[in-house]
Order: sequence, then structure tokens, then C-alpha cells
Amino acid sequence: MSTPGIKVFAPASVSNLGCGFDILGLALERPGDEIIARLSERKELRITEITGDKGKLPREIDKNTVTIAASALLAHLGEEGRGIDFEIHKRMPFSSGLGSSAASAVAGVVAVNELLRRPLEKRDLLPFAMRGEQFASQAWHADNVAPSLLGGIILIRDNASLDVHRIPAPRGLYLAILHPHIAISTAESRMRLPETVPLVDMVTQTGNLGGLIQGLYQSDFNLISRSLQDVVIEPFRSKEIPHYEEIREAALNAGALGCLISGSGPSMFALCDNSLLAEECGAKMRGVLKKHGLRHDLYISGIHSEGAMKY
Ligand code: HSE
Repeated sequence: MSTPGIKVFAPASVSNLGCGFDILGLALERPGDEIIARLSERKELRITEITGDKGKLPREIDKNTVTIAASALLAHLGEEGRGIDFEIHKRMPFSSGLGSSAASAVAGVVAVNELLRRPLEKRDLLPFAMRGEQFASQAWHADNVAPSLLGGIILIRDNASLDVHRIPAPRGLYLAILHPHIAISTAESRMRLPETVPLVDMVTQTGNLGGLIQGLYQSDFNLISRSLQDVVIEPFRSKEIPHYEEIREAALNAGALGCLISGSGPSMFALCDNSLLAEECGAKMRGVLKKHGLRHDLYISGIHSEGAMKY
């Protein structure tokens, strides 16, 4: 018999933000994942339902990011014998560069923590959500998990120790996110990246990273705009995204502060200094894919300040 459940929303996220490969990310107001979790008397975790995944996500407890993360948290709490049933409602695309696996892992640990009446502070859930994300992406980077869990814009000083810091989000920042309907696996995309970076690119990239952080602290949109560049990763990944340059030009001509790849792609984000501009940039970006007859989704979103939450 199941008890009444709780429902958790975990937001999608935009990671890297151009110059912050693996160390910067922000949470989106939409889209996101929803999980309903219920305590049960069966003394095991179960996935009772998954919707929105077209049958593609694993139902096995040791292969699904939700239950991998939930199991890690339960083991830490000495609650391995707990019975919990999960319904997973994917309300966002996966292999899209929007942190789908991270959102699921985050939703899983927040749901468990809520069901057990919050034994841990939200921030302390991070390492357990990371276990789910690690399984999915075969790497340890918190630039989707941390913003999805904690909200806002997050800087990860060090991924190994999960030394994460919240950066202020200037009022008015809005994003247009274009998701072309092709799938890019983060794990495969990472394997195609070079292992070394030329010194001259390191200098440019760190300069832009510092500029972006300073711009966010000072609400200096001009500095943010100048800093939204990526000379290290974009040259490799942009080739995988159809009509990348044309979409980017369309967003910049419409007034975006910058337009780059979201995570490992194929989604692209345009950062804007107000919501109307984000709508206009989004319309121009989608216009490119419409012209070329490519299927896509468009999201217009602010930054989710709270991160994953029961609602
Ligand atoms: N920072 C990671 C990458 C995020 O770009 O590979 C993937 O969503």
C-alpha cells in the first residue's frame, strides 16, 4: 500500500555559459522534471511510472539516475531498507544540453529528503545527486546538478570537492533557448574534445571568465556581453549543431548579450537583458531552423532562483 506522496520539480539548466566549461551553470524557470515519490511498505525502491521519455529511459533501479542518486542518499542516511515508489515525469528533452539527467538526479534526492522530513540541508544533497549525474554522463562535473539543486547562477571552484558558490544574477536576465531536434550525448561529445589548450586560448578564456563573473556582480551588461565568448570548446562542438553560425548571428543581431552552446548541445542559448528581448531573439533563432525545415523547441525563461523544490 502506498502512502500519500510528494511532488518535486527540478529545473533544467544551462551549463558552461561559454567561457566556464564544467564550472558555470544556471537554473532555468522552465523546462524541468517532475517526480512524485511515495513511501511504501515494500522495503525497496521502485520506478512505477515514467512519462515523457518515449520509452527510452531505463526502469532498472541501478541504471536510472533518479534511483541511483536516491539510493546513494539513503545509504548515507543508513536508510537502505526504505521502500519508496517513484513516478518520473520527464517534462524536458534529454540529450539536449539542458541538464536532463542532472534534473532527474536532483529531483530524486530532493524527493527522498522531503519524504524523510529533511534530514539534510539542501546543499548537502549535492554529492548524492552527483552520483546519478556521474552515471549518466560518465564524468564528475556539477555544472548542471548544482544549479538545478540550488538555483541561480553557480560557480564551481573545484568539482572534486564540490566547492560551489552562488553568483548574483542581475535583474532582468532572460534566456531564449533553442533546442534543435537532434540528440548529442554528453559522454560522446566530451570524448571529442582536445586534451590540451593552447596558452593563448587559456589567457583569452580565463579573461572572459573573470569578466563574466565581474559583469554579473556589477550588473554590467556590456561587460557580460563582451565576456560571453568561448575560444576553447565552441570551435569543436559548434560543428555538430546545424546552422550554428546563422542562429548565433540572428540572436546577436536581434540584441542578445551573447549566444552560445548550452552544455554539450545541441541546444543554444541567447542571454538577454529583458524578457521581451529574449522573446524577440528566440523568434529570430527559431526562424533560422524554420527556414531550413528543422524541427525544434523554443523555451523563453528567466533564472530559477530557488532550484529544486517540493510544490
Ligand atoms: N560541462 C559539461 C560539458 C556539461 O559541457 O560537457 C554537459 O551538460
